[in-house]
Amino acid sequence: MPEAKSNADALLKSVMDNKTPESYSPGLEGVVAAKSKLCSIDGAAGKLYYMGYPIEEVVNGSATYEEVAYLFWHGRLPNVKELEAFKDEFSKLRTLPQQVMDFIKLLPHTCHPMDALRTIVSLLAAFDHNPERSPEANLNRAIALTVRFPTIVAAFHRLRQNQTPVEPDPKLSHAANFLYMLFGEKPDDTTAKVMDVAMVLHLDHEMNASTFSSLVTASTLSDMYSAISAGVGTLKGPLHGGANEAVLKMLLEIGDPARVETYVDDALAKKKKIMGFGHRMYKAYDPRARLLKEYARRASEKTKASRLFQITERIEEVMIQKKGKQGIFPNVDLYSGIIYHQMGIPTDIFTPIFAIARVAGWTAHVLEYWQENRLFRPNALYIGPAARKFPPLAQR
Ligand code: ACO
Repeated sequence: MPEAKSNADALLKSVMDNKTPESYSPGLEGVVAAKSKLCSIDGAAGKLYYMGYPIEEVVNGSATYEEVAYLFWHGRLPNVKELEAFKDEFSKLRTLPQQVMDFIKLLPHTCHPMDALRTIVSLLAAFDHNPERSPEANLNRAIALTVRFPTIVAAFHRLRQNQTPVEPDPKLSHAANFLYMLFGEKPDDTTAKVMDVAMVLHLDHEMNASTFSSLVTASTLSDMYSAISAGVGTLKGPLHGGANEAVLKMLLEIGDPARVETYVDDALAKKKKIMGFGHRMYKAYDPRARLLKEYARRASEKTKASRLFQITERIEEVMIQKKGKQGIFPNVDLYSGIIYHQMGIPTDIFTPIFAIARVAGWTAHVLEYWQENRLFRPNALYIGPAARKFPPLAQR
């Protein structure tokens, strides 16, 4: 018995020695979890780069979603001929297998579109009959998944309203075709361009929570569908992609720029977070929010959304005044909702749009990680009881 106790103590000590409170980083803050060539962030300066290209140059240089997705998957920008061939390939994959469409019809209309998307991504694995797991086969899966995300979201949205899903139009861009499948009408060039910009801005963001969860799943050598459905599930939360939906609800609840200060003061006094502000990486203004704000401003001019824009600008002013010193500034989710709202897109489709954009980033990170795969398996700092004797059921 004393020997058993000393063995147990020794075991506990060896476990504790490796897992000190000093090595514990809540939320893995500051931990470098992987190497990547894809995306980098300078959080102090508020800078974002896609493979070294500053995000402002990518957006102002009019790069399309297809072009940037190509960059992430192939590691370089396409030339004119390559981009045309890629867009052609891209647009041909949009249609879903009929059985998948039939399954979408079975989903309850009350299901959140993110739940629908996560379920259908998972289901697509059952329709992939290719046993090949080569990098080429996985790149093809990455492309097909990215192409099909808009089809899934649009089909679910129309079916839940008892409308017939709209067949994709191969002549339209990825962004324009999504709006077409959602509304059944081709968007004008300006609206399609704004959606394209929003998608480019959301395409990737280094080791964010959903990318990390995709990588954790991929690192077990599970498959692309499992990794991406993990990403969708992680993005849904209001501390991550779900914040864009929460922001619009907050703007509608506030209703008037004059009520902003009281709303913010009340929330902060109750230790509540103001959605669309703060970021683990940025302690300065999120560059994506800066770009989206200008599109939101233009989209809101002379429309009903202008009041929402005024409320948002006022929240920004009040929050920077009260929380800027703590490094809390607008993040990407603050202005995207106004843009989508102005397009007539329902609030619960905002986070799925984020997923539609981010899937190219998730898949690119998974493909990159598999080149030098290592199982993710961190430790936990044990804070439970010391090792002790297990009492048989009759003695408890
Ligand atoms: N409103 C008010 N206070 C905030 C906010 C906010 N939006 N964000 C952070 N803080 C405060 C916290 O209350 C905390 O204060 P304390 O130290 O006095 O307790 C401090 O800042 C640190 O906050 P944490 O939540 O620990 O910081 P973390 O790095 O984990 O936060 C996060 C990042 C989760 C994004 C946070 O800023 C937040 O919850 N923001 C609101 C939700 C949101 O907009 N999410 C979208 C992020 S962008 C994206 O994922 C696409």
